[in-house]
Amino acid sequence: MKKENIYILGIESSCDDTSAAILCNDQILSNIVADQKIHTEYGGVVPELASRAHQQNIVPVVHQAIAKAGIQKDDLDAIAFTRGPGLMGSLLVGTSFAKSLAYGLNIPLIDINHMQAHILAHFIDEKDHKKPLFPFLAMTISGGHTQIVKVNDYFDMKVIGETIDDAVGEAFDKSGKVLGLGYPAGPEIDKRAQLGNPKAYKFTKPKVEGLNFSFSGLKTAILYFVQRETKANPNFIEEHLNDICASIQYTIIGILMDKLKLAVKETGINHIAIGGGVSANSGIRKALKDAESKHGWTTYIPKFEYTTDNAAMIAIVGYLKYLKKDFSDFDVMATARLKI
Ligand code: KG4
Ligand code: ZN
Repeated sequence: MKKENIYILGIESSCDDTSAAILCNDQILSNIVADQKIHTEYGGVVPELASRAHQQNIVPVVHQAIAKAGIQKDDLDAIAFTRGPGLMGSLLVGTSFAKSLAYGLNIPLIDINHMQAHILAHFIDEKDHKKPLFPFLAMTISGGHTQIVKVNDYFDMKVIGETIDDAVGEAFDKSGKVLGLGYPAGPEIDKRAQLGNPKAYKFTKPKVEGLNFSFSGLKTAILYFVQRETKANPNFIEEHLNDICASIQYTIIGILMDKLKLAVKETGINHIAIGGGVSANSGIRKALKDAESKHGWTTYIPKFEYTTDNAAMIAIVGYLKYLKKDFSDFDVMATARLKI
């Protein structure tokens, strides 16, 4: 007899969040995330510290996810884990844990591509969230990646544009560092941007061919701008922080929206989904909503809890692969540079 409910444990440990989630079919029962505060004092993720923190967190986080879901570990049908891309030391913790538990429980192991998961998080069954229709364009914007992906089907995706240097999240974080904000600076810039004038200062947008992005020039332009202004007025940052943040955010969103418009023009696809940490940004969310009425796009914006790294997105891809019986061998290895 066919089992009605499939229980998947998802494990995410690619960067600095240790997360475990339980899905029953495409519905979330639990999604526990332990973030690592330790990196704040270093102004960025320190790989060795991240890996150690994952070691400490993984067992309690998985226990909590199982307990909150109200199931027993023997109820699990498969274990899905992030194989890559990410930091090797971090990935190894989740990979080894997932392998051992799947082996011990004698259930299938499913390896997941983190970037696919940011996109397929849209297929988690949620009240008030519509699932994208194929084909659609997905823009994944995070601390490690900036891509535009043409999604023909769940596992038929093609990257049609990506950054040639820094990721968009780095543009937020590194600009924030110049302004003396803590790490990660994205959320703080977002908060202050809402109180400032986006047109107070103008930063030049990079000129990059086609659908690719570049953010390293912008970071340098902001650094020189701040150095110049503080020379003239040592209190420049404190006095104008909201306006500076609003202007930086306005420029970054302008860059993202220009490329999306070009992608829509080139592909003829106007269904757009976003994913990744930067998709939490209020400015990009508003710009996409505005594009619905202005350009007739259909947009898919994830719930906040599925924007930054989380295991629910890993578990949903695990469920979709489980349905296809697309299981991994136990010699599968963590892969730092895994492509979509
Ligand atoms: O997806 P994520 O959690 O981790 C990676 O895979 O990189 O993304 C983290 C990134 C950081 O750069 C952070 O500053 C940015 O997402 N971020 C934001 C916001 N919330 C998180 N950037 C702009 N506005 C936000 N509200
Ligand atoms: Zn991510």
